[in-house]
Amino acid sequence: MRYIGVDLGTSAVKLLLMEEDGTLVKSVSREYPLHMPRPGWSEQDPADWERETLLGIRQLLEGQDPGSVRGIGVGGQMHGLVALDEAGRVLRPAILWNDGRTEEENAWLNRDFGEKKLAELTGNISFAGFTAPKLLWMRKHEPELFERIRRVMLPKDYLVWRLTGVHSADCSDASGMLLFDVEHRRWSREMLELCSLREEQMGQVFESSEIVGCLTEEAAERTGLGREVRVVAGAGDNAAAAVGTGTVGSGLCNISVGTSGTIFLAGDRFVNPENHAIHSFCHADGGWHLMGCQLSAAACNQWWSGVLGTDDYAGEQTGITGDKLGRDPVFWLPYLMGERTPHNDAQARGAFLGMSMDTDRSDMTQAVLEGVAFGLKDGLLAMGEPGRLLHRSRICGGGAKSPVWRRILANVLDLQLDRLAAEEGPALGGAMLAAVGCGAYAGVEEAARQIVRTVGTVEPEPELVSRYAERYGVWKELYPRLKELFPRMAAED
Ligand code: XUL
Repeated sequence: MRYIGVDLGTSAVKLLLMEEDGTLVKSVSREYPLHMPRPGWSEQDPADWERETLLGIRQLLEGQDPGSVRGIGVGGQMHGLVALDEAGRVLRPAILWNDGRTEEENAWLNRDFGEKKLAELTGNISFAGFTAPKLLWMRKHEPELFERIRRVMLPKDYLVWRLTGVHSADCSDASGMLLFDVEHRRWSREMLELCSLREEQMGQVFESSEIVGCLTEEAAERTGLGREVRVVAGAGDNAAAAVGTGTVGSGLCNISVGTSGTIFLAGDRFVNPENHAIHSFCHADGGWHLMGCQLSAAACNQWWSGVLGTDDYAGEQTGITGDKLGRDPVFWLPYLMGERTPHNDAQARGAFLGMSMDTDRSDMTQAVLEGVAFGLKDGLLAMGEPGRLLHRSRICGGGAKSPVWRRILANVLDLQLDRLAAEEGPALGGAMLAAVGCGAYAGVEEAARQIVRTVGTVEPEPELVSRYAERYGVWKELYPRLKELFPRMAAED
């Protein structure tokens, strides 16, 4: 039998068809627009996700036997607020994970309600992109719409809802809402009350590989699949990527260099971290994980390439020769959408510093790649002891396809970085969860053991490691010196 994995991303939905033994049969990707109606705001239309996913499944099935598909699993961008009315209609565009409009609500939650209380109830403090501050924002700024909310869900849960008609949530993704008791894997009644919500407005909680339901008649018709195809609850994209890279059980790490950049450390018990710049969430394998999140990783390179007017990322990087690594006088702060780990500052912005008359575009491109790597090092250090003790990680995401960026990352982070045979992290994780849910494997760890293969390791080079340690020392002083200026730089409405 075969399984479909879906990665509901920020720029596109990526889908793949997987044989039961993990062999990839085919993959497709379909883009949709991202709307930024104001600086720091970030929205998408759930109808775009649904249309492109269903068309993507059709495309995936071209030339394939639809009868061979047994299950679907979705990994999706986390934290987004999708609000539906009584009739199941979407009330407003989804407010995404990298949206920074909730600065005020976020500050109120952390300062007045209190970080300590939040951490007791949910294992986490508030960040502008989390779902609870978005609900408070909506209650204040769009009260009529807020009154009409019948269901609250995350982006991938919206897809599962449209595929099965069941309003579900999974523990890994729900962890990022600040409405979920991560330790006990259930909704937090106090947090729901704080946001004027009742539990019946939230999805039924499942573990990621549990079956939520089968396809509705409409979904079967639109995709060309049979109604008996099962859909599992799925996972947040980082947990799904961790499954797809075999980062399960305890002690393994995955670094994802996608639109966002994340450092994901899998564990078998709940940890309330000392430094709450690090998220403490449920994992898709039934365990937990710690995670640092950088809001703009490959997004920085995408933005910069757009400014240069090219999409030839590899061509743009040919000028970054080995002798230049760790010697670029130009620095880049990757805060295009503010920053989550470690600063929790929605108003921070990107900055180039250190240019001179002989700086060229290649120096600037190198600075962007290095600035993202330095930001990830901040995340690693924010993990405290477990971060310091780490020597090895897996790596995935679009940015990990670049050999020079991988080399920079291995040396800035001083980690051995394992590359995977299959680079489709979250989509592969989604398909693996479906296979587990349909009984093809005894559990998520067993599926990872049988399916995931590494194909090579990028080794840190001692001389470059020390050069980068010295550059990082300078880089990390830039944000504290500029911090107060960012809000003053923002143009008034
Ligand atoms: C994680 C986060 C991002 C998104 C990207 O907390 O916000 O990694 O999930 O899709």
